[in-house]
Amino acid sequence: MSLLIRRCRLLSMEAPQGFVGVRTGEAMRGLRVRENVDVLVRAGRIEAVGDGLTVPPGGQVIDARGDVLMPGFVDCHTHLCWAGNRIDEWTRRLAGESYLQILKDGGGIMSTVRAVRETPLITLTEELRKRLDAALRQGITTIEIKSGYGLNTEAELKMLRAIRDAALTWPGTVVLTALLGHAMDTSIGDRAFVERTINETLPAVHAEFPGVAVDLFCEEGAWTLSDSLQLLNAAKELGHALRVHADQFTSRGMVTEAVRMGVLSVDHLEQTAGTELDLLAKSQTFGVGLPITAINLGNSAKGTPFTGMSAGIKFANLRELVDRGGRVCLATNTNPGSAPSISIPLVVALGVRFCGLTVDEALTAVTINPAMMLGFKDRGVIASGKRADLVLLRHSDYRELAYELGGDPVRAVIVGGHVARYYASA
Ligand code: NIG
Repeated sequence: MSLLIRRCRLLSMEAPQGFVGVRTGEAMRGLRVRENVDVLVRAGRIEAVGDGLTVPPGGQVIDARGDVLMPGFVDCHTHLCWAGNRIDEWTRRLAGESYLQILKDGGGIMSTVRAVRETPLITLTEELRKRLDAALRQGITTIEIKSGYGLNTEAELKMLRAIRDAALTWPGTVVLTALLGHAMDTSIGDRAFVERTINETLPAVHAEFPGVAVDLFCEEGAWTLSDSLQLLNAAKELGHALRVHADQFTSRGMVTEAVRMGVLSVDHLEQTAGTELDLLAKSQTFGVGLPITAINLGNSAKGTPFTGMSAGIKFANLRELVDRGGRVCLATNTNPGSAPSISIPLVVALGVRFCGLTVDEALTAVTINPAMMLGFKDRGVIASGKRADLVLLRHSDYRELAYELGGDPVRAVIVGGHVARYYASA
């Protein structure tokens, strides 16, 4: 099966001359655009990029008519598998209650935990399939999905199985993460919960899903620093890659410890500054910004009623992280509580407006960098031999992806060489 995409304005995301590996600093900028380029895809891979290419007999042709063709988006942080909804809680937050107080009172993440525990595997899988379809429509072709709303052995395994099963019928690539330390299940006592997670849930997950990364949420009302380190050390000993949610509302020293332990990524970083930011920037650990979350929590991040002003909403300072040489990604963080949106274009738009990134940096942070973070060297750029995960935009200027807020920029999504979605252009 072959496919020719003709007359593209190609944003290949190829590295500047001589540069290999994760893009940092200057290598995140200066993206090259080539006009009137054809891209030939065969057997799921990019076969050729050039002028005047022809398609083999029986092949498909898409005429880009000068619009932008770029790599499919890689969303490296989501909680896409859940049950129930948190709309009532959201209206309470609008009225001034804080996200952390609702969690402390047994709501928030814990209310989704209760819903997930009650939901059969088949229903969880079906709901996830619908959300994966929505992700594809946004141009996401590789996605990471966390468990973390089970918080006991049976329910965490159920979530991981639902993610694995839903992935089988999705054309893109799903990466599973076991978010074993997402909250404290206080119903059995904090200490007992931490010990059960480390001694029972982690080994069971390791036995069935040995390759998954293990993740946790180090925060007031969630996992303490010392409990976090215990779980991370146990997971590391079993050979799991590690990720952490750190510094969302309060800074607790997790970033320093994460760097010391060689954690793959620290995600959130709203409170990270000074020497910790510097330490992160100089390390191999990726920093993942999740700007939809800050926008969505708004005043309820601090529990401040609406006064016509924002109560000091904070975003990750990705400008400084890039300037100091850090490895930077952006992601949606889609979840029913802090980020009810699967829009990567919105993430790009917010990353530019509130995290201090340039358009080129933001696009690097949703393509090649998260691909590298998730361990994929075959995507995130358009070049001969790479996997043909591509997005054709409705725009002829790629900066419109960041300029538009809440737009509908995707005309076609190509996954593994197949046209997975095509929307007639306006
Ligand atoms: O990254 N902070 C922890 N986890 C998610 C929120 C999950 C939820 O509220 O259900 C986050 O924002």
